[in-house]
Formats: sequence, structure tokens, C-alpha cells
Amino acid sequence: MTGRPDQTSAPWRVGVLFSSSGFMAVIEETQLRGTLLAIEEINAAGGVNGREIVPRLYDPASEAAAFGHFAKRLMVEDEVTTIFGCYTSSSRKAVLPVVERLNGLLWYPTLYEGFEFSPNIIYTGAAPNQNSVALCRFLMDHYGPRFYFVGSDYVYPRESNRIMRELLRANGGEVAGEVYLDLRCKRRDFLPVMRDIRESAPDVIFSTVVGDATVDLYQSYADARFDPKLLPIASLTTTEAEIRAMGFDVGEGHVTAAPYFECVSGERNSSFVAGYKKRYGADEPTNMCVEAAYFQVHMFAKALGQTNSMDTDILRPMVLGSTFDAPQGRVSINPGCSHADLWTRIGRANRRGQFEVVHQSVNPVLADPYLIGYGRSVLCP
Ligand code: ACM
Repeated sequence: MTGRPDQTSAPWRVGVLFSSSGFMAVIEETQLRGTLLAIEEINAAGGVNGREIVPRLYDPASEAAAFGHFAKRLMVEDEVTTIFGCYTSSSRKAVLPVVERLNGLLWYPTLYEGFEFSPNIIYTGAAPNQNSVALCRFLMDHYGPRFYFVGSDYVYPRESNRIMRELLRANGGEVAGEVYLDLRCKRRDFLPVMRDIRESAPDVIFSTVVGDATVDLYQSYADARFDPKLLPIASLTTTEAEIRAMGFDVGEGHVTAAPYFECVSGERNSSFVAGYKKRYGADEPTNMCVEAAYFQVHMFAKALGQTNSMDTDILRPMVLGSTFDAPQGRVSINPGCSHADLWTRIGRANRRGQFEVVHQSVNPVLADPYLIGYGRSVLCP
């Protein structure tokens, strides 16, 4: 090949790392879709300063180590500096040393356990002060103080449960049981868990199960004939996507805390939902992970339009403190911690696979990933 592309019209190349296969595809495929939808919208409107965004995609197939491997390939061989990707905290932790070493910028659109900061990551999913705190209060008020923890066996569930245990204990609650299952577990693995739940008689099941195993947990619960009105499964990760996969009847009555549900009112969300369904099918619901994947690309493009440079040291300061009118409402990237200030909502699933919002913050909640502003008496009046 001779000559170089015209620098003024060459596309902006970005990396995209979400699983289209394996046990996490049920949710990561939707994050991929949200990312591509935003890129298509930006390109249809003329790109950024007249230049198209072109994604370089890899499928890490739900393997955490593969995220680290592909992040390195993106940065070293594909010469990409910005990466949109990761759902599980283990995949983020595999990418973190790569972007830190090579000075890239990972945009991470997933709720997580908090207690992390990297100058090379922009966190656009909820931190525990934006979901766990309100969920704990809601569950204690409406169902009771004894929680049973069931989680997938990796860093997010164990750390998320550590925080939930502290919140509970500080307010007179207790953990009635705690069990972790392999990410690749099968439906039959939940049978002893259901027996244990019946014996320990908690008021709430707090699930940190992710991916395909979510379907097996809720189906096993339905098979065991528990009643969500009396003993719901509450979660920070069960979205419209997992509910669709398990069946609306199986998901009905269970509770999730999230910054966004498809049902959020307002013109901004209506046009987002309409655009998503037009692109991916009328039966495809949006969810909190799609929404974060979508709005973070728009925030990136807005910053890039101002810097006209993908250099992390130039782009990052423009991202910090920036705001965006997202489908969930106005969001901003908190300059103190590189996490997004987001809305807090609690929803209960209905028989149409949609969440009905039963609690909502009055304003966006400032990100506080280390729970600095939340002493142990956080739930007390
Ligand atoms: C997660 O692993 N951050 C859900």
C-alpha cells in the first residue's frame, strides 16, 4: 500500500470488547448493541469533526483473561487508545493493567462493587452508594431484616455482599445464609440452595448471580414454589434482558435496583427505546447496561469533538466534569473519582417483563465508590 490516508478524514478507531458468546452473552451482547447504536447515530450525524468512528470488535467469549489479551492486542497491534467494554469485574480487572501500562482509556458501562480507581478508566455503571444503599433500605422496610446471599463465585458478588452485610449489620439486620456458585453452574446446582433457603427462612434473597446462571436461579426458585410477594429475589444485575431469557412469568414480582429501566419516562428515553427497537427488533428490551454502553459513547464523542485528539492525556480532562442528557436523565462524570453521577431507581418486574419503578432518587446521586460519605449508620434516620 502506498501513501497514508488523509489525516483530516481518517476515521477515529476505537476498541470494543463485549462477549457475543459464552455464559455472559445474555447481557454483554446488549452492551455491544448499545455501543454500536451510539456509533451509528454519531456517524449518521456526520461523525466527530467530520470523521467517522470505526469500531474494532473482538469477542472475548466470556473469559476474563481474554479481555486482557484482546485489550493488549487493541492497543499494541490495532493502535487503539480508547476501549469500550467489560461487564464482569474480573474482566475489568484483566483490562486495567493493560490500559494503565499503555495509557489507554477504558469506558466501563457496568455496575460494580466500588472500591477502585484508575486514571485510565471511566466508570459509567452504578457504584454501591447508587444502588446497594437504597436497595438495602427498601428491602428492610418492605420485607424484613434477614437476607440470604446467593452469588456467582468471583470478585463482584463477594465484595458486593461484604458491603450489603455491613449495611445490614449496622441497622439490626442479619445474613441468614451465604452461598457462591461457579459462573458456569447448571440448574441442578441450585437445588441444594433452594433447600437451604427453605430451612433458613430469610425475608429476602439477595442475588449477585450473573449471566446465564441468573435464568437457572430464578427458574429453580419458581420450581421450588416460593412466592415473590413474600420472599422476593432482589438484585443489582437482573435486567430486562435476563427476565426476557427466563420468561416473564418467572421474573414477575422480583426486585432490581438500577439507574435505568426501559420504562423510564421522558422524551429522551422514548427516542432511545424507539431507536433501539428499530435497529434490533420490536421485542428487544433496553436495560441499564445497554443504556450505559450507549450514553458513554455519546459522552466520548462529545469530548472528542472538543479535543479533536484521542490522546488519553488530552481526552480525559475533557471527559471529567462533562454532562449528558442520557435516557435515564442528566448524568455527569464526577471529576473527583471518574465515576458517573447517576440516578437511583428500584423496580419490581411485572408480567410483561418490564420493571415498575417503586422508588426513585429526586436528583442524580453523586458517585462515592469508596462509600466515604456513608458511615455505618447510613440507613438510620
Ligand atoms: C460485575 O461483575 N461488575 C457485575
